[in-house]
Amino acid sequence: MNGAARPVQTAFAAEGEALLAGLRAPGASIAPKYFYDTLGSTLFDAITELDEYYPTRTERAILAARDRQIAAAFGRTGCTLIDLGAGNGEKAAGLFAALRPREYVAVDISVEYLQRSLQALQRRHPQVAMSGVGADLCWRLELPERLPREGRLFFYPGSSIGNFHPDEAQRFLGGLSAQLDETGALLIGVDLVKDARTLQAAYDDPLGVTAAFNLNVLRHANRIAGTDFVISDWRHVAFFDATHGRIEMHLEARRPVRVRWPGGERRFAAGERIHTENSYKYRMADFAALLGRAGFAAQHHWTDERKWFAVVLARPARECDE
Ligand code: AVJ
Repeated sequence: MNGAARPVQTAFAAEGEALLAGLRAPGASIAPKYFYDTLGSTLFDAITELDEYYPTRTERAILAARDRQIAAAFGRTGCTLIDLGAGNGEKAAGLFAALRPREYVAVDISVEYLQRSLQALQRRHPQVAMSGVGADLCWRLELPERLPREGRLFFYPGSSIGNFHPDEAQRFLGGLSAQLDETGALLIGVDLVKDARTLQAAYDDPLGVTAAFNLNVLRHANRIAGTDFVISDWRHVAFFDATHGRIEMHLEARRPVRVRWPGGERRFAAGERIHTENSYKYRMADFAALLGRAGFAAQHHWTDERKWFAVVLARPARECDE
């Protein structure tokens, strides 16, 4: 279908209930997917403009410099480009010229934002069929049935894979390799381990944009779970944990706090935290091994001069029963 983007489909269930389960647990947490209401997606876009937040800019430079090499390594035009966590879709659109996809499928949890982005994108690229899928990538990815199995290119940029624990990342990537045939591939961005100061600055910027992004999850909670969080009771905390190789983000109570919701409540002592995000950083060799365990074989990768970020093209391993 050319001309107009297809309507976005949604597939969420009991979001407020799932959020409350995390709040009730002994070590309170709110999953990072709840960052992305419409304001949250906009705040994330603002993060990507920060001097300290290097991942987006570094990845964009790699993709811009290597797009033809990536397309040549993939080896075909007319693919179905499936953008996982598409956001504003700009990164994928940057690859249209080199990849010449037949169809672009944008998947994102932030449906309203996705719909807006797709409309703008479709106007600029009338030759590419476009559709949107509202989906939570924590669950099994349900693609529209009509999508051909042949020539799929999953695009998972931004190091969003870093939100998963490595075991979960393997399971998620295994789910992707299972949805590809030998003509398909995965193009994935991954943030690499680097000095702790650089990492920490990227998640605790002096302007406070990341703090606003983190705190916004409480507004979102108030709306979807009926909690009564007072934003000013909480403080943004972010640090690099070298043992786990991950950035952790938390919200810390500035004073004793009581949070209520329909049918429940929880008290937090001053200094007590709600864990809101992990962002794992990988060594290239470790990530390549993880891809291998997830059912991917031959891989190409491209990186920047400082080796801060990598873009990897991986093909599914062939079934052994042939
Ligand atoms: C969208 C998950 C890749 O981990 O860097 C940015 C989210 N959190 N600043 C990341 C994020 C705080 C981002 N990902």
